[in-house]
Amino acid sequence: MQILITGGAGFIGSHTYVVLKEHGYTPIIVDNFSNSSKKVIKNLEIITKEPVIFEEGDVNHPETYDLLFTKYDIKGIIHFAASKAVGESVENPLKYYRNNVASTVLLLEKMAQYSLSNLVFSSSCTVYGQPETLPATEESPVQPATSPYGNSKQICEEIIRDTVAASSALKAIALRYFNPIGAHESALIGELPIGPPANLIPFLTQSVAGLRGPLQVWGTDYPTPDGTAIRDYIHVVDLAGAHVKALAHLIDGKSTKNYDFFNIGTGQGSSVMEVITAFEKATGKKVPYEIRDRRAGDITAVYASTDKSNQVLGWKTQFSLEKALQDAWKWQEAINQ
Ligand code: WQD
Repeated sequence: MQILITGGAGFIGSHTYVVLKEHGYTPIIVDNFSNSSKKVIKNLEIITKEPVIFEEGDVNHPETYDLLFTKYDIKGIIHFAASKAVGESVENPLKYYRNNVASTVLLLEKMAQYSLSNLVFSSSCTVYGQPETLPATEESPVQPATSPYGNSKQICEEIIRDTVAASSALKAIALRYFNPIGAHESALIGELPIGPPANLIPFLTQSVAGLRGPLQVWGTDYPTPDGTAIRDYIHVVDLAGAHVKALAHLIDGKSTKNYDFFNIGTGQGSSVMEVITAFEKATGKKVPYEIRDRRAGDITAVYASTDKSNQVLGWKTQFSLEKALQDAWKWQEAINQ
């Protein structure tokens, strides 16, 4: 069964490609390689021991979908292609509204034109902002976005929800990711560092590898047990598995709702200091760090309730934080950049 992965050469997309293959699907990648590398395609062929079907194209261009939906017999689509740097989105909001929102509108129009039904959308826990109560459930209120990136995810969820409501054929699931980390155990694919990493784990591993100065710990005055902020760090392979479960839920007709959304996290919150300690325990490597003031816009704590995704999708995480950190370090050693 052919499944289109937009942005399939990216961090989450490439890991989802592997899990789709493991489950007998025929994934097809479309990517413009603006934030990924063609080396990923080669490494996916090494991991899966089979040629990768991919098309180089921009999901902002209608002809990309005209080619894909006539050349292939696509039965489901996982839409990863988007810009995802929170800081950049504040400086260049229109890039995010065009690349993230306009491309999703185009995809939905093309799905209707070609009578395609099943869409899994890559969303984010940023829609919750700082939840009033934790863990965040799917009923936790969506809060006003704190960045154009987060806003683009909220807007896309609403566009998809409204389009499904007006359509007799379209079914969609939005997956609200918490913090994806780690890499495939082969260390052939992982989070490609393009420029100084904004996220904690890539910066931490580059710092341990001596490629950067000490990790800057942004804030130790949060109202948390050790004063550092808490997040829900999920192994990217577990996250990839959630997409396959969501897709099956749509295709197998088990979905009682034509539009639904799920938290994809571990259910476990970890502070920055707990991550540092876990990394040192998991790898035997010391993390050089310095304490700094809070980063503007950061929330104190968020972690997922996973009840709904466990019960409805039949999905649960398999990997621990330590395993994710070990795999992140193996990846760093493999690319050493
Ligand atoms: C995690 C914690 C930082 C870097 C963002 C996006 C989210 C998703 C994941 C795309 C925070 C602290 C970080 C550093 C630090 N992206 N930190 N030193 O901000 O939770 O989420 O990335 O989907 O949408 O919002 O992730 O990894 O940037 O930060 O102390 O050098 O680590 O303050 O507490 P975040 P993060």
